[in-house]
Amino acid sequence: MSQQDRSAGWAAYYDKLRDRPPRKTVIAALDLFDPPSTDSLVIDLGCGDGRDVVEMVRRGWSVVAVDAEPAALQQLAAREMPDSERVTPIAARLEEVPLPLGLTWVNSSFAMPLCEPEPFHILWERIREALPVGGRFTGQWYGIRDSWEGRPGITFLEREQALVLLDGFDLEMFEEEEADSVTPRGNPKHWHIFHIVARKR
Ligand SMILES: C[S@@+](CC[C@H](N)C(=O)[O-])C[C@H]1O[C@@H](n2cnc3c(N)ncnc32)[C@H](O)[C@@H]1O
Repeated sequence: MSQQDRSAGWAAYYDKLRDRPPRKTVIAALDLFDPPSTDSLVIDLGCGDGRDVVEMVRRGWSVVAVDAEPAALQQLAAREMPDSERVTPIAARLEEVPLPLGLTWVNSSFAMPLCEPEPFHILWERIREALPVGGRFTGQWYGIRDSWEGRPGITFLEREQALVLLDGFDLEMFEEEEADSVTPRGNPKHWHIFHIVARKR
């Protein structure tokens, strides 16, 4: 698929999902964290057009919002959002972006597996190191029975592999979902997903 086709696909995805609520993993973390202070910082890797960012800001967080697609950050900027000065958009690949000092939360909703396995594992090690004790990772990883398994540029994990990676974290949510449905772009798909809220010990 050309970069142009990929970008057009993501732009259609943002339009289709524009009014969806924040992900359940994000809502769970917002409820679990103590009320944020003025310097509470979260990085959202693969933020899309910002369905999670809006809620993070509304609940008092400062957000570094990272996405490789310019259209995602344009649509994020176009959202009506009080306190939008607390959002720092960064156009970058999530496997390459530096993790800012002082963050207490890393979120990646349906985005972190969208890179090759080696960069995925290097990124996860960087996330583990960057989070302080009590900090959280939230997001979705893909399981090996997902029907996209085998596509290049995506990482799939066995349940046991995912649990090993999460060693050293308390699992506040670890839900394995398998379902047949259609993608936001209308294609049939078997989803195999791990929904994760993990607190570093
Ligand atoms: C499925 S969407 C999810 C968007 C949003 N987090 C949500 O939950 O609706 C995946 C997003 O990740 C971005 N993305 C995919 N691979 C990426 C990468 N390697 N680096 C940065 N962004 C990436 C895409 O541009 C897209 O906006």
